[in-house]
Amino acid sequence: DLSNKTELTAVNGKRKPAIEVFSHALRFFKEHALQELNDQLEDRIENEDIRWVITVPAIWKQPAKQFMREAAYKAGISSKAFPEQLLIALEPEAASIYIRKMKLHEIIPDENNRLSHYRSGCRLSIGPINVDFMHGTKYMVVDCGGGTVDITVHELEEHLGTLKELHKAAGGEYGSVSIDKAFEDLLDDIFTKEFLDEFKMKRPAGWVDLMIAFEARKRNASPWKNNPLNVSLPFSFIDYYKKYTKNRTVEIAVKKFGDKDVTWSSQGMLRFTPEGMRRLFLPTLDHIRQEIELVLQKPSLDHVNYLFLVGGFAESPLLQEEIRKSFKDKLRVIIPQDVGLTILKGAVLYGIDPNVVRVRRSPLTYGVGVLNKFIRGKHPEEKLIVKDEVEWCSDIFDTFTLCDQPIAVGEFVTRSYTPAKPNQKSTVINMYCSDKQRVRYLTDEGVKKCGTLHIDMSDSTYMQLPRRREIQITMLFGDTEIKVSALDVATGNCVKADIDFFKK
Ligand SMILES: Nc1ncnc2c1ncn2[C@@H]1O[C@H](COP(=O)(O)OP(=O)(O)OP(=O)(O)O)[C@@H](O)[C@H]1O
Ligand SMILES: [Mg+2]
Repeated sequence: DLSNKTELTAVNGKRKPAIEVFSHALRFFKEHALQELNDQLEDRIENEDIRWVITVPAIWKQPAKQFMREAAYKAGISSKAFPEQLLIALEPEAASIYIRKMKLHEIIPDENNRLSHYRSGCRLSIGPINVDFMHGTKYMVVDCGGGTVDITVHELEEHLGTLKELHKAAGGEYGSVSIDKAFEDLLDDIFTKEFLDEFKMKRPAGWVDLMIAFEARKRNASPWKNNPLNVSLPFSFIDYYKKYTKNRTVEIAVKKFGDKDVTWSSQGMLRFTPEGMRRLFLPTLDHIRQEIELVLQKPSLDHVNYLFLVGGFAESPLLQEEIRKSFKDKLRVIIPQDVGLTILKGAVLYGIDPNVVRVRRSPLTYGVGVLNKFIRGKHPEEKLIVKDEVEWCSDIFDTFTLCDQPIAVGEFVTRSYTPAKPNQKSTVINMYCSDKQRVRYLTDEGVKKCGTLHIDMSDSTYMQLPRRREIQITMLFGDTEIKVSALDVATGNCVKADIDFFKK
């Protein structure tokens, strides 16, 4: 539940607003990308020339998307005045966009097949993988990242030109970072947790160096290699351990631990046998396999034809092999080359042409509360309000869009509002949502307030007009974010309007 109030805690215990941390990271990327472009091109590229795309997990809710957008504005990636310079793309959607455009040579061949082909003297051949999808093709995208593994199943709906999401991204916490965690646990076991906690606190830079060293070795782990993997412990670690234990060396600690797969090398490094490294991966690999099995067992998801492995963690040959071995008899496992960049490349394709996805399904039912004329027999008595001798029914849910309803990009919903007082300077309307299809009243079970719609009516030209004031609001639900604009019908002027999903 990200919001502009969320705080993050650093390893040394210091707390910082998340929005600041995110915006620093985004600013770094922005500057790096601009620098890189300008190094390669003759004409100078300015920030204004760029359309930025930020990807977020599909399960992120509106407040989290708003958070990302505001962090980007803080980082100088587009601005409130030019919001269209930044697109928010959904990660499984980006992966799908890339995959649909992928060619045969852009797929990593199965190492087992490759070896047997080499042995038999055959030329490399990987069989007729034809990624030309047909209507009704169901495929699973398994996005293995740092934190989470997101599993989405899509079906191609040719008549709509859209991807139908059959299974929403699950998002379990067994990404690549859980291998780092297994390494940390091992360090705790060898050197004690008390020492490690103190080391992280007192020498945070040394801790970061150590994890960078581990990261490089983790990436080298492969079922096809037999060489040991050495992790060099930073000097600050060796030194601090000596001080902490009053002269015990790390070498002694490792020896005393007595694990044949984790030893101390003569060059002064922590040495893992391939088996020792594989042990750190195993629980995570098991988890991912089980999670995929669970999704495939769902009756509504039979006949999934393809499994696409994507994400940074999918670079890992150990993970690739595990997934191939476990699922190749059930469906076709496809791993794109540069698998860690699949989502990024898909996001770039999306940025070039956001209309490649033409229809989306609304994740929730959205609407506002209104008063309607009271109809006896239809409306419940407890909703009756009498005002100036007119009977009204309160709390009626005016539905803008239904949960799971296909919405074309660009399709809009409009409503007109008459301000209570003609000289009102602004209006605030509460937005409500529900995960149910049929919602009749704001008081129905599952209805939650999800945001506020602000309409700025301070435009002075209106004041000269004696007419009744009417504000027409247009809302778009088919994009990756909900968008709103407003028109003052009497003056024909655009009115500033925005939705804030932080205020609930
Ligand atoms: N060869 C490899 N073996 C194991 N892990 C790897 C390898 N290459 C990259 N990774 C891991 O992949 C992760 C980055 O992947 P990715 O960019 O997909 O993550 P992310 O999208 O930022 O995370 P998330 O999807 O959880 O938000 C890092 O944790 C990195 O350690
Ligand atoms: Mg990711």
